[in-house]
Amino acid sequence: MYFYIKLVCLFGLFLLGALAKDIPYDVNYNIIFGNQHVVSFNQGRELQISMDQSSGSGIGSKENYGSVHMKIKLPNRDSAGVVIAFYLHSNTNNNDEIDFEFLGNREGKPYSLQTNMFVNGGGNREQRVHLWFDPTAEFHNYKIMWNEHQIVFYVDNIPIRVFKNNENIGVGYPKQPMQLLATIWDGDGWATDGGLTKTNWSFAPFKAYFQDFKIGGCPIINSNTNNCNSQGYWWNQRKYWRLSSSQRKLYDEYRVNYKTYDYCDDMIRYPTPPLECVS
Ligand SMILES: *[C@@H]1O[C@H](CO)[C@@H](O)[C@H](O)[C@H]1NC(C)=O
Repeated sequence: MYFYIKLVCLFGLFLLGALAKDIPYDVNYNIIFGNQHVVSFNQGRELQISMDQSSGSGIGSKENYGSVHMKIKLPNRDSAGVVIAFYLHSNTNNNDEIDFEFLGNREGKPYSLQTNMFVNGGGNREQRVHLWFDPTAEFHNYKIMWNEHQIVFYVDNIPIRVFKNNENIGVGYPKQPMQLLATIWDGDGWATDGGLTKTNWSFAPFKAYFQDFKIGGCPIINSNTNNCNSQGYWWNQRKYWRLSSSQRKLYDEYRVNYKTYDYCDDMIRYPTPPLECVS
């Protein structure tokens, strides 16, 4: 996932904080690879990124800090091997990263939604859920909320994952400014049934659609994040320091029903559970 890093230096200067409304994607994002596979519609309010055997594609925003979401519709038909990622990445060697990864599947079988986190270059924190709707039929909302206290992954405003700031017990926590990226690429070495189920290129091009390019990020100017924990940003307000009781209830309910994998429960990989899993 790191091959595009050189390209992101081309980004123009842009203050994300100034824009909270429905922004044409070309104001907020640049193409990072697969130029010929990125198409925008509707005055830039909707974007299609696609993949065929020659290339995938992706877009990326300028760096920011805070909360992001996007509406996404996934490729229908057979999408085995195809990975659509919507993620934050710090663009550094010791990367911080917060990932949504949609793992395609044979037609009629459900997509898996994998989430993962990297702190200072260390990842291996995968969780997976099955979605409770058909993500290829309509647009749904996918959101990452990131403040000093917790990182929450939401699907249609339902929290499916929480990563608390456990620095007090020695667990790393993402601190670096990150840019938002949305990409489609061939992951058939691992994505579907652990890599056993391959991409069938007769279904190419695979097309993913994005809308609603709102970024509630804190703009980073000269690597300065001093103001980014300000209460002026909604995601820093006290009520977002932990899940509310109603959110916690939803979280518990959806985890019971839809979680299919959690690295915290994987005793083979982690005979001793990682610190953040037991806190
Ligand atoms: C790919 O899909 C086509 C159309 O369904 C099918 O005929 C073909 O056998 C598939 N190829 C592989 C390698 O599974």
